[in-house]
Amino acid sequence: MNNTKSELINLFKSVYETDVTPEVFFAPGRVNLIGEHTDYNGGHVFPCAISLGTYCAISLREDKKVRMFSKNFERYGIKNLDLDNYEKCSYWTDYPMGVIWTLSQSGYKVDRGFDIVFYGNLPNSSGLSSSASIEVLTAFTMSEMFGFNMDFIEIAKLCQRSENEYNGVNCGIMDQFSIAMGQSEKAIFLDAATLEYEYVPVCLKDASIVIASSNKKRGLADSKYNERRSECEQALAEICQGKKYASLGAMSLEEFDEYKGLIKDDNRLKRARHAVSENIRTIEAVEALNKNDIERFGKLMIDSHVSLRDDYEVTGLELDTLFEEALKVEGVIGTRMTGAGFGGCTVSIVKNENIDEFIKTVGDKYREKIGYSADFYIASPSSGPVRL
Ligand code: GLA
Repeated sequence: MNNTKSELINLFKSVYETDVTPEVFFAPGRVNLIGEHTDYNGGHVFPCAISLGTYCAISLREDKKVRMFSKNFERYGIKNLDLDNYEKCSYWTDYPMGVIWTLSQSGYKVDRGFDIVFYGNLPNSSGLSSSASIEVLTAFTMSEMFGFNMDFIEIAKLCQRSENEYNGVNCGIMDQFSIAMGQSEKAIFLDAATLEYEYVPVCLKDASIVIASSNKKRGLADSKYNERRSECEQALAEICQGKKYASLGAMSLEEFDEYKGLIKDDNRLKRARHAVSENIRTIEAVEALNKNDIERFGKLMIDSHVSLRDDYEVTGLELDTLFEEALKVEGVIGTRMTGAGFGGCTVSIVKNENIDEFIKTVGDKYREKIGYSADFYIASPSSGPVRL
């Protein structure tokens, strides 16, 4: 879809066999540059919104019926729902409907039905937050269509709640926050404990952000994610037998070394060590970027991957292959997995003159070793949700 607005309008008209012209909205996806699995540990993250994302075209109805269609799940056709009576159905519509449910829990009544079509150009299950993208898109669209006048931080919090309570994934705030608050050419340095944030210009001189999607299906990812989160919570509780800390993100590495002996299980110790060290790396990485020290930033990205591989154990053969092959290519300043892991994408900073070679070499080696292809995208930090 190139001329997306008019294509969305045409799609809407043909799906619902109508002449009504719908309103069109967009919300981006996100890529996290560094600070992985730190948000729910009270630490820092450094993501940015990207220009790939999710679109919708919507028109309100006079009754309470909702019809949903996604170009990405075309074969399933139109889903018919009812605002007065809907239940989770383990289907993609649970994401937008979860947001409608959470809006109503928060006093925002969606009291008219609507017809809507969605189209996303983020690869599904890729670690670029297609789910947070459709959530934020839904909340923003409802806010605009029903005059709720919500601010973007409120939208982010509401969408996180929807994912936690409706979809059962105990995620942190990073994805929804970075999508709702995205700004062009800037990444967001966010303290997930306090929600204090700062926009940091991403000036990579003669280099760019390249995303490599492993195309590995992320089966069981949600349950593994919840498991990591509870391992960290348990480790923190054990550490707090010695001295109280509000979160793992509140600890220095020295403090962690002093109290880590209280953690009674090796795996939990590794998980906690990642959470503490990754938070510190993230703070250092942003300092490096502010000083224009891209090399240092890249080095910290590499350390981040190693920690996610060895301590947090969320990478796997596919992401490790993309990582290792990337490191062999000239002009790669930094590379790491991004998002929750267990499949999904890597994010790399690559010198512009080496990008073609990067895509070719890493792509070939990946296919050779894994048996199917990876996809590559050049990304730049982009702005948040808009009405088109
Ligand atoms: C997922 C979650 C985020 C964050 C990342 C890992 O994307 O939705 O809250 O925890 O994983 O950093």
